[in-house]
Amino acid sequence: MSAFTTVVENGIATVTFDLPGEPVNKLSDAVKVEFEALLIRLRDDTTIRGAVLISGKPDNFIAGADIEEFTAVTTESAAERLSFEGQEMVSRVETLPTPVVAAIHGACLGGGLELALACHYRIATDHPKTQLGLPEVQLGLIPGAGGCQRLPRLIGVRAALDMILSGRSERGTKALRLGLVDELVPPSILRAVAVATADRLAREGIPRRKPRGGFPGLALDRTAAGRRLVYRAAEKRVRDKTAGHYPAPLRALDAVRVGLEDGITAGLAAEHRAFGELAVGDVSRKLVQVFFATTALKKDDGIPPGSAVPRQIRRLGIVGAGFMGAGIAGTAVANVEVDTRLKDADLVRVGRGLKTAGAVLADRYRRRRLSRAQYERLGALLSGGDDYRGFGRADLVIEAVFEDLALKRQVLAEVEAATRPEAIFASNTSTIPIRDIAAEARRPGRVIGMHFFSPVEKMPLLEVIPTEATDPEAIVTAVRFGRRMGKTVIVVADHPGFWVNRLLAPYLNEAAIMVAEGVPIDVIDRTMTAWGFPVGPIALLDEVGLDVAQKAGQVMHAAFGDRLRPPETLGRLLADGRQGRKNGRGFYRYQDGHKAGVDDSAYALLGIRPIENADTGVIERRLVYAMLNEAAMALEDGAVRSARDGDIGALFGFGFPAFRGGPLRLLDDLGAQRVVDTLRDLEDVHGARFSPAGSLITTILHGGHYYPA
Ligand code: NAI
Repeated sequence: MSAFTTVVENGIATVTFDLPGEPVNKLSDAVKVEFEALLIRLRDDTTIRGAVLISGKPDNFIAGADIEEFTAVTTESAAERLSFEGQEMVSRVETLPTPVVAAIHGACLGGGLELALACHYRIATDHPKTQLGLPEVQLGLIPGAGGCQRLPRLIGVRAALDMILSGRSERGTKALRLGLVDELVPPSILRAVAVATADRLAREGIPRRKPRGGFPGLALDRTAAGRRLVYRAAEKRVRDKTAGHYPAPLRALDAVRVGLEDGITAGLAAEHRAFGELAVGDVSRKLVQVFFATTALKKDDGIPPGSAVPRQIRRLGIVGAGFMGAGIAGTAVANVEVDTRLKDADLVRVGRGLKTAGAVLADRYRRRRLSRAQYERLGALLSGGDDYRGFGRADLVIEAVFEDLALKRQVLAEVEAATRPEAIFASNTSTIPIRDIAAEARRPGRVIGMHFFSPVEKMPLLEVIPTEATDPEAIVTAVRFGRRMGKTVIVVADHPGFWVNRLLAPYLNEAAIMVAEGVPIDVIDRTMTAWGFPVGPIALLDEVGLDVAQKAGQVMHAAFGDRLRPPETLGRLLADGRQGRKNGRGFYRYQDGHKAGVDDSAYALLGIRPIENADTGVIERRLVYAMLNEAAMALEDGAVRSARDGDIGALFGFGFPAFRGGPLRLLDDLGAQRVVDTLRDLEDVHGARFSPAGSLITTILHGGHYYPA
């Protein structure tokens, strides 16, 4: 079956791309061969005056290259050739004698956008599913089919770099404003408008593009000196953001610069050379693995396929309208558009919770992600009260009251009394075993954990925690609902700390122990941000809240014993009334909500003097290996179902550096023998908490890996 069907009417060829058997259109080798043949026909058939390229998929124009196929490429020269051939194909579209109009509805990404950029006119729909972007850097690559050349020429170097270096995609309205598309239409008339446009361009000729007026960045774009400023600023932004760990954005910047300064031929050469090198590089390989893992997780419901059907959630109940409850409510309404009822102990708190939840919507409205009408309609889905009125219709209730077992049990009993027997009760506890909360439940099969991270709107991960007794239907319902809220969901075991907090426990403990030893706070944090974390461990403690962190630390200590004994560091700071960022006092100072340097008085409080010349190699080793060892143990205990889930949890739960693939991927890269040797060295100096995980030893014995080879 072919991917393209062409219908010629009145001299205008409408080419419909519809890759058989796939949900989205991808540019594979086979597709390219067929497309090349089509281009020859468009070039040579004199009865064809113009063409329209449109997709046959419901919400997808072209998702980009076929990544699966691309990962089969193993040599730099083969990858470079792939890019070169892509450039050639796209150029052949541009140089056709007849005008080609791209009719874009749905995702138009990567190679798909590069192809559209070579067309002579672009029409997009105003539908929210229409997204245009060059996300290659997110896979450690650069746009390699002329995108680094055509985009800056079309929309100006500043806007182009903004898109290419971030990999962010834009909706239709923004694309029109940028000049990325020429016209915006509703989906229902896309085809007709495109055909009429191709006909008009065939009669009137392809207009020469004027540089776009009114775009504020353009003045800078016009002079070499202006562009130099733009390049320099972009380079600084990239360096600040990537700490030198991600080579792709700098290579993309280079391909753009060479193309604009030395001409398009030189630019294309820089582009395919960089693409070849990056494609077989370690960072890209890791980011592609992460991409595959997240894609696979999107299809994984946490139960054997087909063993249960998710319940439809028409109404969501939330008990506890505090920080987390309100965040969950706002995100659920914004992303799932579900009728949501908040309950708290008194109306003042309910009011505050509703306001916080509404702020999620207000923020989207401000950023033009919601229209006024949508904003008002969604706002009306939020309601609340100081009793369980309205919970009778709830299909799912999420509990986010104080972290207190007796209280949570009491709330569960109240919810069971107020809801229908099929309703599911999910706790957002961060430390209490779900089975303890469910111990006195009337319907233990309907009790589950849904552990969100703060701030709920921004943090991408959700841990779903079934107990032994939880029904498969409740599991699949929680997983699917979390996914509709926009979260990447991992199903984890009902063990203390679940997965994310289990890995953080020894890491944060070790950081606090180092502070007590006199290692300067900022040196610890800088060491770990240089290693690739978005924030260092001490800053993270301040973010989480020292009270919350201490409580979690105590729970982990009780569960796992001496290995996870927290130092007294946090207790001393708490006794001084320091809770971290939330009350503006912690290891760091805060001014108007912003972190403003280490609070040196913390050292005095701990009775220490910061040491000079701390060895950052040792700091790094202690922190990294504490976490790696715990990951090996937790996987062995069955805390997560697979290395894949564990790595995604670490990446999305606390920002483990993506270019390292995740803690378990890193263990495989280092090799169990080397990890064990390092842990034994650390054990000699720092004690039994570094004693290597049993699974590391067995891995050495069996020569195995955490990932299948
Ligand atoms: P919070 O103190 O901001 O909110 C708790 C709310 O529950 C308060 O508004 C309180 O009035 C309400 N509440 C207490 N008893 C109630 C009752 N009987 N009926 C109705 N409402 C009641 O606390 P936060 O931070 O939102 O935490 C809530 C839960 O989420 C805790 O279990 C916590 O461990 C968990 N969690 C917290 C995270 C965080 O970063 N803060 C992250 C992940 C989970």
